[in-house]
This record gives sequence, structure tokens and C-alpha cells, in this order.
Amino acid sequence: MNPAVTSLSGFIEQHHRWLDELLLSHQMALVEKRLQAAKTFYHCFQRALSIHAQAEDRILLELHSQHCPNPRWHTQVYFHEHRKIYDLLDKIAQRVDALTVIQTVDVIELLDMEKTLKGVLEHHGEREEQGLMPELQSSLSDSHRLALMQQLDDYWCSTLAAIRKTVAGLQYGLI
Ligand SMILES: [Fe+2]
Ligand SMILES: [Fe+2]
Repeated sequence: MNPAVTSLSGFIEQHHRWLDELLLSHQMALVEKRLQAAKTFYHCFQRALSIHAQAEDRILLELHSQHCPNPRWHTQVYFHEHRKIYDLLDKIAQRVDALTVIQTVDVIELLDMEKTLKGVLEHHGEREEQGLMPELQSSLSDSHRLALMQQLDDYWCSTLAAIRKTVAGLQYGLI
């Protein structure tokens, strides 16, 4: 965990930016018509985003519903958006998995589907960074907040290790 980041918003924002970069890497490979890289980056992105959102479902949203009685956006809004994100991720995965070569029409169609996902993610991320996280920040004690950040960081470090390794291999041309 970056010791300079002490707020929950800053912590989650870092993770969101990493996920954005993964999607961008997939899109770069797609535009360059590198089939295996486009597929692998997408699967890494889908898995990483699912792990990210599942931890939010199980840990952060649970706390939000217990400790934040008057939220800007109700806890259910975040749950609902996560379901929508999982559905969009699956739809795009089906289109990506069906590729055997990348033609220009595939690039256009996939970028269009991903534009919809990016719009949802942008709004959802803003809600988390402006609602969920500051609300949790002000309702939890400093020690509880730091323990929570450590818990999330440990969980994401262990569950995302294999994905980070695959991504690094792709970026350095080792895969
Ligand atoms: Fe989320
Ligand atoms: Fe998030």
C-alpha cells in the first residue's frame, strides 16, 4: 500500500486508475489487431474488475449500509451498478472470445460496446470517490479506516498477483 495515501477516496482512486489502464491496454492491442494480447488484456481486466467490485460488495458496501444512515447515494445503488457492470463485462467477453482474427469491423463494434462500459464505470467510480468513500471515511475511526485499507490491500495483492504478472509479461513482450 502506498504510505502517502491515507484517505479511502485516494486509495480506491489509485485502484480505479490501474483498472482504467488495463482496459486501455486491451484497446491499444485491439486497435493494433494483436489478437492474443487483446484477448489476454481483456480477460485480465474483466477478472481484476470483478475481484475489485466483489471486495466492495462484501466489505465496503456492508460497512456503508451499517455506518452511513444518510448517504448521498443509497448502498443499493452501488450494488445495482455492480450487477450492471458484471453483465456488460460478460457481453464484451463473449464478443472478444469469438474473435479468431481482428478485422476493422470488430474493432469498431468492440470499442462501441466498451464505450458504454466506460461511461458506466466513470459514473460509478465518481460515486464511489465522492459518496461511498468519503462517507465511510467520516463514519469510521482512524484505526478502523487504516485497518480496512490494509485488509483491502492485502486481499487485492493476493488475489491480483497472477494478473499483475501476466500484465507485466505482456507489457514487456514476454508473452
Ligand atoms: Fe464499485
Ligand atoms: Fe470501485
